[in-house]
This record gives sequence, C-alpha cells and structure tokens, in this order.
Amino acid sequence: MSPNERNAETRSVTLHMVSSLDGFIAKKDNDVSWMDNPGSVYEAGVSISEEEAAAFVQKIDCYVLGSRTYEHALQLGWPYGDTPVIVVTGRKLPSAKKSIEFYSGDLKTLVEEKLAPRYRNIWLVGGAMLCQRFLELGLVDEIVLTIAPVLLGEGLRLFGASSMPDRWNLKNVVAYKNGFVELSYSATVDLSLK
Ligand SMILES: NC(=O)c1ccc[n+]([C@@H]2O[C@H](COP(=O)([O-])OP(=O)(O)OC[C@H]3O[C@@H](n4cnc5c(N)ncnc54)[C@H](OP(=O)(O)O)[C@@H]3O)[C@@H](O)[C@H]2O)c1
Repeated sequence: MSPNERNAETRSVTLHMVSSLDGFIAKKDNDVSWMDNPGSVYEAGVSISEEEAAAFVQKIDCYVLGSRTYEHALQLGWPYGDTPVIVVTGRKLPSAKKSIEFYSGDLKTLVEEKLAPRYRNIWLVGGAMLCQRFLELGLVDEIVLTIAPVLLGEGLRLFGASSMPDRWNLKNVVAYKNGFVELSYSATVDLSLK
C-alpha cells in the first residue's frame, strides 16, 4: 500500500462550528460576537486551560475554509496560527500568510487528492455554504458542534436541506462552565467504503 493510499484510509474530515441554540452560525450582518462569553454560568461544567486548548489545536493538521469565512477571519484576527489553511474560492484572492493556499474546483478531488496525501486531521471550519457542500457530498467524517446558550432568531443557518449521511453516532458530550455544550458525532456509514 502506498503512503497516499494509507493516508486516504486514515484521514479524517471534522466539521467544526459554533451554533446558536436555534441553529445559526452568524447574524444576518455576519456578526459573531455572540460567540464570546454570553454570561451564562453552568457550575457543573468543565473549563479548559490555555495549555490544554493549545495542545488540542496543535493536533489539527490543516483547516479548510470558504472564502467568506476567510475574509471575515482576516477582519476579526487570524485564529489559525501557522497551521496550513486551504481557502475554497473561485476568485483570485490575495494571500495574507504563507500558510494559506487557495483551491478552486471539485471538493471530492480536494479531499482525496490534495489533502488526504498530506494531512490526517483535517478541520472544516465554515462557513455554512462550504460545510453544506461537504455534507451533501458525504465528505465529512465527524461533526463537532459547539452550542452557544443564545437564541439569535434569524441569521445564517448552519445546515441546509440535504446532508449525507443523515444519521450520526453521538461520540462525546462536554458541557462547559460558560454554558456552551460541545457535541461530537461520527458518520454512521463507513464513507471509505463508498
Ligand atoms: N459560528 C461559526 O462557527 C462560524 C464558523 C465559520 C464562519 N462563520 C461565519 O459564517 C459566515 C460565512 O459563511 P458563508 O456560508 O456565508 O460563506 P463560506 O462558506 O465561508 O464561503 C462561501 C464561499 O466559499 C466558496 N465556495 C464554497 N463552495 C465552493 C465550491 N464548491 N467551489 C468553489 N468555491 C466554493 C465561494 O467563494 P467565492 O465566492 O470566493 O468563489 C463561496 O462564495 C461569516 O459570517 C463567518 O464569520 C461562523
């Protein structure tokens, strides 16, 4: 088995998003400040230290972003450090850092031919449009959804009408002291067999 084939088998695409209780990832005007501590306190919850968070993030091999998330991340303050970032876009965008690559084209080809040979722990971090395309194509192995204790009423919906697969296995639940809950799911079907 070649290294490329081995990596294709072991690579994992994790969709991670922070959602409001009513399923939105941003307000209509793109505001995401509601993600900052909304003042909820859950005494029985856990909190993680900066060191623990840094150790977790260090295990991520690359991030995949839609172009609108990329542009918003540049405005808000780049949260991805020097970890490789692949921005999906049909436009010619200026690169803000050496760690950024742009990709335009088929998403299955992106995952299987461009990412899998190089990376194992691939994190798809938004936005809604790109995550929905990945879900429709069955390219997501895990979903990690962080639910914020806030109702937005309207905004940008995380999930669209058609997602693949439609059943997911709950793997882990973590409730945090600030009232956020993290739900981790794996795809029920073995996507590598498709
Ligand atoms: N709550 C959270 O966890 C979270 C996480 C991430 C983002 N957000 C927020 O979500 C908003 C952005 O989300 P969004 O859904 O509007 O946009 P998005 O998914 O970030 O970006 C959409 C863009 O990605 C490109 N794209 C998507 N699919 C493609 C494909 N198959 N082939 C080629 N290009 C493709 C297109 O770029 P071009 O138009 O350049 O061709 C498209 O316009 C921002 O406000 C951001 O802050 C929230």
